[in-house]
Amino acid sequence: MSAPATELLALDRAAQDLLFRAARTANAFTDEPVDEEQVRAIHDLVRNGPTAMNAQPLRVLLLRSAPARARLLPYLSSGNRDKTAGAPLTAVLAADVDWHDRLPELFPHRPGARDWFTGDPAGREAQARFNAALQIGYLLIGVRAAGLAAGPMAGFDAAGVEREFFPDGRHRVLLLMNIGRPAPDAWRERLPRLDYAEVVRTL
Ligand SMILES: Cc1cc2nc3c(=O)[nH]c(=O)nc-3n(C[C@H](O)[C@H](O)[C@H](O)COP(=O)(O)O)c2cc1C
Repeated sequence: MSAPATELLALDRAAQDLLFRAARTANAFTDEPVDEEQVRAIHDLVRNGPTAMNAQPLRVLLLRSAPARARLLPYLSSGNRDKTAGAPLTAVLAADVDWHDRLPELFPHRPGARDWFTGDPAGREAQARFNAALQIGYLLIGVRAAGLAAGPMAGFDAAGVEREFFPDGRHRVLLLMNIGRPAPDAWRERLPRLDYAEVVRTL
């Protein structure tokens, strides 16, 4: 197997490592706070990540206070509860299924685009989930770029979290993400990754 072709990449090696090679999923965090300015800086970095029709369906609810966190904990799987209680910040990542309402502003060169989706709630939800998932990927890398670690979690009762935090019915909660500085015991063993030949085919 040849060495990674680092020199073919535009980012310097330290940035590559911070964002990708050395980055890990954190399972424990220090109590150092993650402040509003840091989250704004991450948003500013990732806001231009592309989505279909520029729809940008991701909505983020930040849970910082202990009472806010306490409302979330009952909906988590047991393995996710303690690390979430101990994280300085937890982001609830949701998709707005009525994202098409913003198309006149976000996709202005197609004035009728909103109307294409009004009668298709199932298609809208599928698009919302797909594009918000892409945005979650951008966000995860943005957290790393800020020198922080992310702990994404799908192990929770999504319907319960939607009832608790999004009673308007227009949001689907896709993922939770703890964000903070990793504690010394934050890491699990690195799991194997698929090789190039297992993932990529060229015709
Ligand atoms: C969408 C998603 C859902 C995940 N859900 C959970 C979860 O519920 N609980 C958990 O402990 N880890 C969860 N993880 C963490 C993954 O297991 C972890 O990111 C993966 O094994 C890679 O770990 P590494 O970044 O340290 O190599 C999730 C990760 C992602 C991206």
